[in-house]
Amino acid sequence: MTSRRILVTSALPYANGPIHLGHLVEYIQTDIWVRYQRMRGNDVRYFCADDTHGASIMIRAEQEGRSPEALIADMSAQHQRDFADFDVRFDHYGSTHSDTNRRRCESIWQGLREAGLVIERDVAQLYDTKRGMFLADRFVKGRCPSCDAADQYGDSCEKCGATYAATELKEPYSTVSGEAPEVRSAPHLFVRIEAQREFLAEWTQAGHLQPSVATFLKGQFLGKELRDWDISRPAPYFGFEIPDSPGNYWYVWFDAPIGYMASTEDWCRETGSSFDDWWRSPSTEIHHFIGKDITYFHALFWPAILKATGYELPTKVHVHGFLLVNGEKMSKSRGTFVEARTYLDHLDPAYLRYFYASRLSDKVDDLDLNVDELVNKIDSDLVNKVVNLAARSAGFVSEAGLSDSYPDDGGLFQEGMRTADEVAQAYEACDFAGATRAIMAHADRANTYFNDQAPWQLKKQDKLEQARAVGTVGINLYRQLALMLAPILPSLAKGTEALLGEPLTSFEQVKAPLVGRKIGPYQHLMQRVDPARVQAVLEATKSAAESAAQASAGAAPGGKGAAVDDDGPITSEPLAPECSIEDFQRVDLRVARVLEAEAVKGAKKLLKLTLSLGGEHRRTVFAGIKEAYEPEALIGRLVVMVANLAPRQMSFGLSEGMVAAAGPGKAEVFLLSPDSGAKPGQRVH
Ligand code: 2FM
Ligand code: ZN
Repeated sequence: MTSRRILVTSALPYANGPIHLGHLVEYIQTDIWVRYQRMRGNDVRYFCADDTHGASIMIRAEQEGRSPEALIADMSAQHQRDFADFDVRFDHYGSTHSDTNRRRCESIWQGLREAGLVIERDVAQLYDTKRGMFLADRFVKGRCPSCDAADQYGDSCEKCGATYAATELKEPYSTVSGEAPEVRSAPHLFVRIEAQREFLAEWTQAGHLQPSVATFLKGQFLGKELRDWDISRPAPYFGFEIPDSPGNYWYVWFDAPIGYMASTEDWCRETGSSFDDWWRSPSTEIHHFIGKDITYFHALFWPAILKATGYELPTKVHVHGFLLVNGEKMSKSRGTFVEARTYLDHLDPAYLRYFYASRLSDKVDDLDLNVDELVNKIDSDLVNKVVNLAARSAGFVSEAGLSDSYPDDGGLFQEGMRTADEVAQAYEACDFAGATRAIMAHADRANTYFNDQAPWQLKKQDKLEQARAVGTVGINLYRQLALMLAPILPSLAKGTEALLGEPLTSFEQVKAPLVGRKIGPYQHLMQRVDPARVQAVLEATKSAAESAAQASAGAAPGGKGAAVDDDGPITSEPLAPECSIEDFQRVDLRVARVLEAEAVKGAKKLLKLTLSLGGEHRRTVFAGIKEAYEPEALIGRLVVMVANLAPRQMSFGLSEGMVAAAGPGKAEVFLLSPDSGAKPGQRVH
């Protein structure tokens, strides 16, 4: 069989938040499919990137006092760490805020212009006069025009479910500034999707989508005129400015899917591959994996754009449902909005990969993560049936090695080969639940065989060769299981490689038994799930949600968005007289790391800090922060210090500077921290 060339993507995660277990349904699903394709010998590449643009990122960066570029760099590093630790392996992970993406957007834009698909129209929107920006629906709140409920967002009411335009809200206010917005008009650019309706009506029904998705699109959208797609946003916006429309930016959803191409292109550049082989070749398959909420972007807008600008269309858009936890939507207050990192701090990623796989089919149904079911599933399938088979079999071949020829096993190994065909078909069709069921059926047969043969009794009766033969069969059936599970459980495959002394890389390996060789010592391949660790994940999630809720209540008195701070601090301590830039520059502020922090005998308020400015450059500082900070909590953190302050002799010792902090004093002292990435010794300008 000739190898297929397959390009695969998962939806690009937004850079404004961490990866959570909901995201991971998709990345794990895609990663399993990609690993399966690789084990079939196909030339498969998996591309993704951070989705970095939009007003949310701009506003969040502003609130955090850093540039959007610094924010997205930080998030990208976090996202990539989370994915790697969940064994989600991309061939390339890019960013939509890259020059490659900008260039690709420009060329696609030109294509759309040339095809006559771009039109301009005025759009009336709410405008925040204080912040000087148009407000997307999620940045406006007010009373529901239908039921009068307070504090509802600009698109729909959480109380009564009504949907409306933001301009219909009663007593609207901007969540950015807290001010009442006004309605203003501005020109926007639109793509005329209607011009592609005939093509889309055909393409969506031609096997590129699951049947339920195709039916949904036909019923919901394709029977009537398709609305023009508003793809520009006026400044200020974090994104790419539209070259032939200064002051306007491409809406994040325009450049996001083009990010699939840019990520491919960056990889092509790194590996010497041809971009056109991947996006302009009819023999290449293109597979997008997405959640059901973004179906129309991928199944209508994206194919329309690709078609109009001369690229290949997706072979398949695979749509999955949402994650529920214990039957309900993920919720911060219930402690079920679990971030990837919180999970990783306590539990083995293999558990989640297997659990998700056991629940994923080619349907668009939601997937329910029930924690008791997860514990049972891992213990009963993976530990009891799979890993125990290896552990028990290994004991009978550890000394003499595997039998020289494959023993008679009553046809079980052959049955394993047939199972592998069935499993392969299920993987190909994204029916991972079906794949795991077939694998477990084989595991059941293997365990029954092993128990019936009772090699421990054979050993007692000194029938060592026979016991060895049973061990050989057990190990080989286990090896078939590990091979079939490898797309789901790469870590188990790794452990098995160490045990068997051979890499598990190809599905073909299920056909040839391993004989006549020693195997490595058995080492634990997987632990039972510790319910206390599961509880720890839920508790950590809940307490993080509680602290976040407290922090935002503190930041937003009256619940009116983030920026409505009272003016107490500035009135009680008015601004100092103006100074010149030269005056400011005389103060040498530096990033420093706290190396040591200790209480000072006889001083109620002071902590003695040893600060590092990098290398051997140390400073001792006595800081009046004892009532606000535990010394141990400070060790290792970065602070900002006044590094050229004249040293001051105190009764406790010499103080060689000052750490920068805000607040009135006592317990209310707040140290300043640079964002991560800053290095001790760097000057603060
Ligand atoms: O819905 C989301 O999370 C988007 N960031 C997905 C973008 S997918 C693609 F088109 F880039
Ligand atoms: Zn309502």
